[in-house]
Amino acid sequence: MSFAQPGILEPRPDCSRYLFFALRPEAATQTLRARLERLADGDRLVVGLGSSLVEHLGGTIEPLRPFPAQSHRGIDIPSTPFALWCWLRGEDRGELLHRGRMIERQLNEDLSLELAIEGFRFGPGLDLTGDGEDLENPEGEEAVLAAITHLPERLAGSSFVAVQQWQHDLDSFDALSDRAPEAPDEPAAPRAPAPKQEDFAPERLMLRRSQPWIEGRRAGLVFIAFGQSLDAFEARLRCLIGLEDHLPASLFRYSRPLSGSYYWCPPLHQGRLDLSALDP
Ligand code: HEM
Repeated sequence: MSFAQPGILEPRPDCSRYLFFALRPEAATQTLRARLERLADGDRLVVGLGSSLVEHLGGTIEPLRPFPAQSHRGIDIPSTPFALWCWLRGEDRGELLHRGRMIERQLNEDLSLELAIEGFRFGPGLDLTGDGEDLENPEGEEAVLAAITHLPERLAGSSFVAVQQWQHDLDSFDALSDRAPEAPDEPAAPRAPAPKQEDFAPERLMLRRSQPWIEGRRAGLVFIAFGQSLDAFEARLRCLIGLEDHLPASLFRYSRPLSGSYYWCPPLHQGRLDLSALDP
């Protein structure tokens, strides 16, 4: 029996380190597959395979696809695919750095580390604007229903994740908040008047596990949403950018996505990543 990677359903950790890898041209298949299977370590690491890696390993994972780049009303949503995403979870930045270096070393023959982002918990789980990103997030059984695939059986225990690095312009956010009382027709809330989570059936829900990031003077949110498929995320993104007859969310007045990618998070079987869904 295979189970979902536990870190997906756990609360957000104090510290996160997100590693994004690309396939090397000469990458192997069988040894790489065996190395990936051994990466799993319980709840301190969540692993996601991108389309290119799934294809390289000879498999087809139906709901996985490349992240769709989009452009609408001056808003650019970039697609920046990677072969592998590792989400290291813990309490200590130094420990995460060293654990990440070990993973990098284990995979180095076949995969090159292209990007590393450090995330962290701000207060009880806030975005850097001070808003509670955890609001209206499914919990308990509902979180499992939202994030974990049950059917088809070969994918049971899998999850599909959308990852976007957003960069905030916090001065613009402050200016918006200051201006709001004199300009009531300019929405100060970060959302457009779009459907809410509860308007969707469970398979249309998503489990958000976003965390803030800081690098020098730059800062923002690593938006992370797990789903039974990627459809819920895509539907919400269309609402957010105004493709469903709504205005783009006022979020875009102070933040923009720098990246966007999708991954398949395979289940665990006897302490190893279960990649059997790649078999014909
Ligand atoms: C910088 C990026 C983002 C920030 C700062 C942000 C912030 C927030 C905050 C503060 C909430 C909770 C309160 C509220 O409903 O207003 C929220 C809820 C939510 N967000 Fe975001 N968000 C971001 C991006 C996204 C993206 C890219 C998606 C999906 C495509 C998304 C989907 C949702 C959903 C589904 C909810 C639950 C409430 C609802 O159904 O409206 N968010 N977000």
